[in-house]
Amino acid sequence: MRGTVRQGEDDRGEDQRGENRLIADLVAALGADHVLVDRDLTAGYETDWTGAFTGRAAAVARPASTGEVAAVLRVCAAHGRPVVPQGGNTGLVGGSVPAGAATGAVVLSLRRLTAIDPVDTAAGLVTAAAGATLADVQTHLRTAGYTIGVDLAARDSATLGGIAATNAGGERVLRHGMTRSQIAGLEAVLADGRLVRRLSGLPKDNVGYDLPALLVGSEGTLGVITRVQLRLIGLPRARTAALIAMADLTAAVNLVALLRATVGSLDAVELMFDDGITLVCDHQGLPTPFPGRISPVHNTPYLLVECVGRTDPADELATVLETAAGVLHVAVATTAMDRRRLWTYRDGHTAAVNALGVPVKLDVAVPLTRITAFVDDLPALVRAVTPSARLHLWGHLAEANLHVNITGPDRDDTRSRETLAGAILTRAAADGGSIGAEHGVGRAKMPWIGMSRSPDELAVMTAVKHALDPAGLLNPGVLVPPYGIGRAADPALP
Ligand code: FAD
Ligand code: LAC
Ligand code: ZN
Repeated sequence: MRGTVRQGEDDRGEDQRGENRLIADLVAALGADHVLVDRDLTAGYETDWTGAFTGRAAAVARPASTGEVAAVLRVCAAHGRPVVPQGGNTGLVGGSVPAGAATGAVVLSLRRLTAIDPVDTAAGLVTAAAGATLADVQTHLRTAGYTIGVDLAARDSATLGGIAATNAGGERVLRHGMTRSQIAGLEAVLADGRLVRRLSGLPKDNVGYDLPALLVGSEGTLGVITRVQLRLIGLPRARTAALIAMADLTAAVNLVALLRATVGSLDAVELMFDDGITLVCDHQGLPTPFPGRISPVHNTPYLLVECVGRTDPADELATVLETAAGVLHVAVATTAMDRRRLWTYRDGHTAAVNALGVPVKLDVAVPLTRITAFVDDLPALVRAVTPSARLHLWGHLAEANLHVNITGPDRDDTRSRETLAGAILTRAAADGGSIGAEHGVGRAKMPWIGMSRSPDELAVMTAVKHALDPAGLLNPGVLVPPYGIGRAADPALP
């Protein structure tokens, strides 16, 4: 008995010595200032934006160059430590923080890699380091008369690396596609420190597998992205936004089809409901749009439409809206300040919902032909599991992408939360939809990944993961069940 105790003490002593050696090697690679171990300093890297996922990092490593990223990965490989790459930590599926209390994972923060190259107008490209925020890149480009085709509400914190790693969608997908179609090249470090670099900027370079495309959307499981090269888009000369209150969701879906067919300048069609706008107004102290003119009984749907062009697109949009069926009220904004005011109603949703408590956060796609019935059936689906829960809906209607959030169930009430998620995702999949439209899979959607990908497809994904990360070092438990180093470190596994 005593021997066993002593053995335990020996193990703990050995664990501590292993921990000390890991930290010493990370410090040798980065310097003491950029290896955080103090809980006060690491805490901000250990809980995700939603507050649903918390883990404990053995250390937070903050490299400042591609070479230092490679050095951190080599140290972690030598010590058998899992690595969680992290950018702005705005991800919504729990992939940017360690899985639990005892994984021994190192959080690899990319936030010190912030350099943005001069705009390459000849090639129509901009290249930036992975830790540059979307807002900083947008500002950098605006002064040169350009922008990029990716935009989302978390722009001030979300990094290019995180946006690439999640293949983020956002508010401009209608015209420009998801992030993957905006990326011309990238640089990434593999788990063993090897480098993949495709930054030639050549539009024609057709030599073998498209490794950048594979790394985009890999959620930190195949490599650590260190640089991203994006296509430039000329800054539009004129923009018009319109907030449109609609009679019902069917009319809104029909209006999307009409706008697509007739308004060439169409750039965004976002969906909100009256209760979501009211929530944002309460959260931010804003006046409601159309005061006194919206019945609170019907939870009116709203579209936020934006058109862009060389010449003012306002007339083109107004002509269509004048005769479109189901349009109740329209507020048009042409100045930057008025447009921003309308977009605040839209961009404020995620934060306003999170202020109510940690939501069950789902991000589904449902074919537009079925979306009205899906939305109609949601309240009953939710009530059947948690009668007192509150449902929040908004999304990117042109892409059939709905954000389904539910507040009420406690953060630790795993049973209710999983039952709710399972019921809604099962319904979305049965409707021919996707269980993960734009936020990715992370840890949050792992139990349901098989609803959107076949066993053969999952086996191929696992084979790719094994080929690039044979030890299972990178973000274990995200996208692919943990194995190797990740499996040994995952406290949830036997
Ligand atoms: P993180 O949260 O740090 O990481 C996200 C994932 O990427 C993790 O798995 C992480 O391991 C991995 N990762 C991060 N950096 C790297 C890297 N350099 N190399 C390899 N892997 C890496 N998403 C949308 O698609 N559309 C939206 O409209 C949208 N709106 C949002 C609005 C708000 C208010 C918030 C909070 C989030 C929103 N998101 C949206 C979520 C979205 O995924 C993130 O905002 C963004 O894509 C993640 O960037 P990040 O730098 O914060 O990444
Ligand atoms: C949005 C985020 C949640 O569209 O994707 O608001
Ligand atoms: Zn979204």
